[in-house]
Amino acid sequence: KTGLLGIDIGGTKTAIVLSRSAPNVLWRGEFETLPTLGADHALEKIVTLARCGVAQTGCTPTAIGVSCGGPLDRVRGIIQRPPNLPTWGDIPIKDILQQKFGVPCFVENDANAGAVAENQFGAGKGCRHMVFLTMGTGLGAGLILNGRIFHGANAMAGEIGHVRLSDSGPMGYGKAGSVEGWASGGGMAQHAAWSVQEALQAGQFTMLTASLPYVTARDVGQALLAGDAVAAQIVHRTGRRLGEVLAILVDVLNPHRIVIGGLALRLGDALLEPARQRMREEALADAAAVCEIVPAALGERIGDVAALCVAMGLHADPDEA
Ligand code: BGC
Ligand code: NA
Repeated sequence: KTGLLGIDIGGTKTAIVLSRSAPNVLWRGEFETLPTLGADHALEKIVTLARCGVAQTGCTPTAIGVSCGGPLDRVRGIIQRPPNLPTWGDIPIKDILQQKFGVPCFVENDANAGAVAENQFGAGKGCRHMVFLTMGTGLGAGLILNGRIFHGANAMAGEIGHVRLSDSGPMGYGKAGSVEGWASGGGMAQHAAWSVQEALQAGQFTMLTASLPYVTARDVGQALLAGDAVAAQIVHRTGRRLGEVLAILVDVLNPHRIVIGGLALRLGDALLEPARQRMREEALADAAAVCEIVPAALGERIGDVAALCVAMGLHADPDEA
């Protein structure tokens, strides 16, 4: 019995999935991607868990798909110093996994793979012009234009996290005030820590005080659900900044839909409503009018399905060598 092996490497966790037919998952394993432990440790875990899954299910993969934050050399299958895994160097993951499992391995940027997954199976089904935003630890975009994934001249298209939004602000992609600084889980964590300090100085109560000195995006989400006013304000501000990013995408690409994963799944309209509103204030009215802003329909499965789409070769650009 054969199937596909998908590996989704994120800045916070890595998932390994086996599937007989995407988007269905037959077996799943997960571990925390601790940057301090480095790439060798993560690779070892990936191989061990994958072998475990194969043994438990009797499902032998005929292809491997790796979805990972960039920058990447996707053709040669090398992960190149990902900003959200600062201890990783250049990792020739394609060669390593092909050698271990004896089957072809494909490597793709996580946002691009997510865009393909949502375009095939999710909220972007049949959509000709769409953008997918990861909004996890980092922020990346995957572009589907004219019904096809768009990679650009050397596969750097969609690295919108690197764009500067303001002269100062949370750090992301090596820049303070970048899109990734303002509109990602990692950025929200920094912004949250400042907001909690501010609240304390102003004598305002917030349950996020208990999370100091490191307030995570997850803490903010939990506090939001509990009705915490400071958490609501942090999410609202992040939503407004996200809206500015959406406006850039809407003005430049005029997509029908922008599908968002990560924080959008957990925070829902508390994040997306201020984002939509800010987008409409900032973008050209005619372009804004046709663009829907929606959370990923695959929900928390988006990363798994994205990696499986890569294993199936759906991320490939027919024009590419
Ligand atoms: C990386 C992108 C990636 C995004 C989401 C960014 O830091 O540079 O390539 O898509 O994070 O993981
Ligand atoms: Na991308």
